[in-house]
Amino acid sequence: MARGAGARPFRMGRRRPRAAPAGNGHTLPMPRFPGAVASRLPNVGTVMSRLAAETGAINLSQGFPEFSAPPLLYDLVAKHMRAGRNQYPPMAGTVELREAIARKAEALYGTRYDPEHEITVTAGATQAIFTAVTALVRPGDEVILFEPAYDSYAPSVALAGATAVRARLAFPGYRPDWDEVRRLVGPRTRLIVTNTPHNPSGTVWTGEDLARLAALVEGTGIVVLADEVYEHMVFDGRRHESCARHPGLAARSIVVSSFGKTYHVTGWKVGYVLAPRELMLEFRRVHQFVVFTVNTPVQLALAEYMADASLHLGLAAFYERKRDLFRAGLAGTRLRALPCEGTYFQLASYAGLTGERDDALAERLTRESGVASIPVSAFYEDPPHDPVLRFCFAKNDDTLARACERLAKARW
Ligand SMILES: Cc1ncc(COP(=O)(O)O)c(C=O)c1O
Repeated sequence: MARGAGARPFRMGRRRPRAAPAGNGHTLPMPRFPGAVASRLPNVGTVMSRLAAETGAINLSQGFPEFSAPPLLYDLVAKHMRAGRNQYPPMAGTVELREAIARKAEALYGTRYDPEHEITVTAGATQAIFTAVTALVRPGDEVILFEPAYDSYAPSVALAGATAVRARLAFPGYRPDWDEVRRLVGPRTRLIVTNTPHNPSGTVWTGEDLARLAALVEGTGIVVLADEVYEHMVFDGRRHESCARHPGLAARSIVVSSFGKTYHVTGWKVGYVLAPRELMLEFRRVHQFVVFTVNTPVQLALAEYMADASLHLGLAAFYERKRDLFRAGLAGTRLRALPCEGTYFQLASYAGLTGERDDALAERLTRESGVASIPVSAFYEDPPHDPVLRFCFAKNDDTLARACERLAKARW
């Protein structure tokens, strides 16, 4: 029997022994796992935010807003908590929120998704992506991704035992090459992951891009996993081309959105998926065992909050102004801002300024200039190391101004 107070039986009528801390008052360092761990994702690294925190740099690396949502949203969460809405909601999400999402999707994209069978609330977009891949992809399948790519796609594919096949979005335009994609599609292709507006490049696909995609998958069983978390951040009068809007693609797409991005609450980790019922059935079969469901009071608050469409419709103008401010600041530096059509990310080229690799430069600028960015090579399996860094401009105006002042003094 193990030694220590907890292991000794307590007998009635005898003096109760004084409770001793576990381990007889001694604390021990956590022992190491005695076996060998063969990682299933051995190439996953760390993020720049940690370096930014260590060095006190202005953090324009990770994509999260520096500002809060209007207090109304927080008040609504508290209201539902106090009203006792704190137990498990239905697996697919609260009825209120699924109905609100259905109304929004119909108003924006003209497609009526059935809240009962075609909408599921998720713990953010990342869980939605993982769940969709796990539900639909089998070992030996191929999944086409567009690189540079958001970092969760490839690990989800790898954990499903499938192969990620990469189509290039080439620097500096980052437009899809549909002839290349056509060459990559084969009998094993199960899924194509799209992302518009695109992280990290800030490009926005056009109606023509969706038409090319639709033509390419027509007559196949290929599913489109459409990551549209930046759907409301599209600038200069452009329209977000959602797969939910396109009849041919809506029939085979799992469309992913994120409340975190839309309402400045990335830490809440709540999103949703839209899909035809045949695909949603499979999605929910996995969702049930990944998270089962998502917290109730936040869902109820979001359902009420999103009834005011101006809150999501106003986001494009809000971020367009920040984009313009940041680009004006960058114009005073030696970096060259690439076009930014959507998202809250701005790419900046340093071609001709230094021969340093992007990862080395991002680290040097964090340490020397006090501004953290992300090297775009972080979004590739086999990076080309193009001379380009990504900056997040979802920050307060003075933070952006200070960052640009610092970058203007950077040593080249
Ligand atoms: C393209 C893309 N997809 C998905 C996500 C994840 O969204 P969520 O925080 O809702 O999981 C992000 C977050 O940065 C993203 O940039």
